[in-house]
Amino acid sequence: MPKDSLTVIDNRTGKQYELPIQDGTIHATDLRQIQLAPDDHGLLSYDPAFMNTAACRSAISFIDGDKGILRYRGYPIEQLAEQSTFLETAYLLLHGELPSASELDRWVFDITHHTIIHENIKKFIDGFHHDAHPMGVFVSTVAALSTFYPEAKHIEDERSRRDQIFRLIAKAPTLAAFAHRHTVGMPYAYPDNDLSYTGNFLNMMFKATEVKYTPHPVLEKALDILFILHADHEQNASTSAMRGVGSAHADPYSAMAAAAAALYGPLHGGANEQVLRMLHEIGSKDNIPAYIQRVKNGEVRLMGFGHRIYKNYDPRATIIKQTADQVFDLTGKNPVIDIALELERIALQDDYFVSRKLYPNVDFYSGIIYEAMKFPIDMFPVLFAIGRTPGWLAQWQEMLLDKEQKIARPRQVYIGSPLRDYAPIEKR
Ligand code: ACO
Repeated sequence: MPKDSLTVIDNRTGKQYELPIQDGTIHATDLRQIQLAPDDHGLLSYDPAFMNTAACRSAISFIDGDKGILRYRGYPIEQLAEQSTFLETAYLLLHGELPSASELDRWVFDITHHTIIHENIKKFIDGFHHDAHPMGVFVSTVAALSTFYPEAKHIEDERSRRDQIFRLIAKAPTLAAFAHRHTVGMPYAYPDNDLSYTGNFLNMMFKATEVKYTPHPVLEKALDILFILHADHEQNASTSAMRGVGSAHADPYSAMAAAAAALYGPLHGGANEQVLRMLHEIGSKDNIPAYIQRVKNGEVRLMGFGHRIYKNYDPRATIIKQTADQVFDLTGKNPVIDIALELERIALQDDYFVSRKLYPNVDFYSGIIYEAMKFPIDMFPVLFAIGRTPGWLAQWQEMLLDKEQKIARPRQVYIGSPLRDYAPIEKR
């Protein structure tokens, strides 16, 4: 009769141990009993970059990286992108179930009525240099919000958590749009509560002299789909930052600023910006083979390719490609799409990429749509952050309510100097 356990023999001592297996994992603390001497701490597992360590049990996102599957709360990403809205998906991520019609109305009302930011935040944004990267502005202003809502520290209070969740989802687009308008020197456009979440974001970004801004429904829908695709992605770098900082019981604004800072990195959410810079640098299909050679020589990375978990096509990239066609019908084709498609075609035939299972990820095509919609390139990571906000908050709340969680505190293997005596400066 097979047992759900792992038998380990420590060849240093000849002792045998039986470690229980649960949900395909062993508990790392079970290794501690494997000791050389009673006062020894016991065996540690060493896993830089968390290549093979589950840090939590989560019921939010499911990914099968080999099959290219992504689900939120059990629902396939394809169905949500086609049939849901971003705010409904946000509700799903945070509550675990799709809302009824009345629950959705209430939820949309509550988010819509938290979109305005305190006037002092505007002054704070004014203080940034004219060419400040909007993601730097976003990270800082999200952190600054914590000083406006000191009650957010009461993370054990369900009502307080709920209010901060409304505020963060509602104010993320306002902060993002204001960051943009500051850098281009345009007056801030205030939220318009008559519009949808995504339509209002387009209003705050692009409203010029018209009395009332009317978003184009095709662009509004396309951006809403992009937000849905970015809404959660289990334990990625920014979500781990959110959980890690949140585990110290920091308020959610401070934790989300940390998450957004992690997202800013070019290996994570900053990749969409780098993809567009790369495509512009390549400039024409003729230059692709030489660029691929530079990638294979290790001089540059093919941005928007590769993923820690997906070793097959990223399902979000498939949906984005379809959405791009709808946007281009309206805006005209972004010429870099031809370079991207050819780059993908060549890369997917090349043994370097095939053998390493490097496929386009969500960032490879998203920026091409954003650019066609007239978003400046440096806004791309900020768009990612708006979409990821409900996911960060759902993961943060799940972590707080999980009785198994404590302050996140990895171990280390010390490789520094052994004990030595301090020498006065004249004797060094
Ligand atoms: N271009 C060229 N080679 C690559 C790329 C790439 N984009 N990605 C991985 N490789 C190669 C590595 O050089 C390595 O080769 P080696 O075995 O010969 O050393 C192999 O593939 C494995 O790569 P790792 O870096 O070990 O994979 P890891 O899981 O640590 O990295 C990451 C994943 C960071 C996404 C990586 O693929 C990358 O840098 N991609 C480009 C940036 C990007 O698109 N990031 C967005 C990710 S999706 C997201 O965050 C939303």
